[in-house]
Amino acid sequence: MKQIQIDNPIIEVEDLRFYYGESRAIHGVDLKFPEKQVTALIGPSGCGKSTLLRCFNRMNDLIDISRVEGKVILDGESIYDKSTDVIELRRKVGMVFQKSNPFPKSIYENVIYGLRIAGEKDKAFLDERVENSLKGAALWDEVKDRLQDSALGLSGGQMQRLCIARAIAVNPSVILMDEPCSALDPKSTARVEELIGELRKDFTIIIVTHNMQQAARVSDFTAFLFEGDLIEFGVTKQLFVKPAKKQTEDYITGRFG
Ligand SMILES: Nc1ncnc2c1ncn2[C@@H]1O[C@H](COP(=O)(O)OP(=O)(O)OP(=O)(O)O)[C@@H](O)[C@H]1O
Ligand SMILES: [Mg+2]
Repeated sequence: MKQIQIDNPIIEVEDLRFYYGESRAIHGVDLKFPEKQVTALIGPSGCGKSTLLRCFNRMNDLIDISRVEGKVILDGESIYDKSTDVIELRRKVGMVFQKSNPFPKSIYENVIYGLRIAGEKDKAFLDERVENSLKGAALWDEVKDRLQDSALGLSGGQMQRLCIARAIAVNPSVILMDEPCSALDPKSTARVEELIGELRKDFTIIIVTHNMQQAARVSDFTAFLFEGDLIEFGVTKQLFVKPAKKQTEDYITGRFG
């Protein structure tokens, strides 16, 4: 497939194949993700979006029957090398899920969870990180007077922004988001979309979404996947206005999927 030139890729995917047991979910994908841009992964249910996303921080390692071939290169280093420190990889490549998953702890402890695990004890540093991360996730004003309250008392939209704060607290390079708004109401969705626009100044974001309008609104680049193949990758505006492939056009105009 002919692809557009990406000059500063932060993640390079080379001939990536992914298997669940005998069944192949990703069929040899080549893709470069530009740094500090938002890239949307779109495609019909079951096409491999979540699987591909999870390849970027080795989340799939947790699935026993899975096997990966090919390469994922982050900042010039192949993440499937034996020498890769997977904990450090997941610090660099954070993740936000469809269903927000705050821990049954205080708002404060949720944000600094990753730093606590890393052994950070400096209270002033942790306080500052909590404030900055919550500000970064556009949640600070709503929770600054209740940092010690349980995170489980927040609204759904607030919980998702808390999970984003938790992801950014460890200062990652890349944030993976798997349908982060699909459980949110339109108002909370709009807030998270707005937030993504802010976060792209500091982070590279890869977002899976089923919502074409959302992909068009929030992303700079879009990759369209179909049955484990990358069909088309390009600048979002171009891909939505003038897709190069008939399959892409059929999908974005709602003919299937
Ligand atoms: N844990 C698993 N074990 C076995 N097969 C799996 C597993 N997870 C996903 N698959 C299969 O891999 C393929 C890709 O699934 P994946 O979840 O990546 O798709 P998706 O594009 O994210 O779909 P959706 O839009 O519905 O979330 C599907 O055929 C799916 O059934
Ligand atoms: Mg999925």
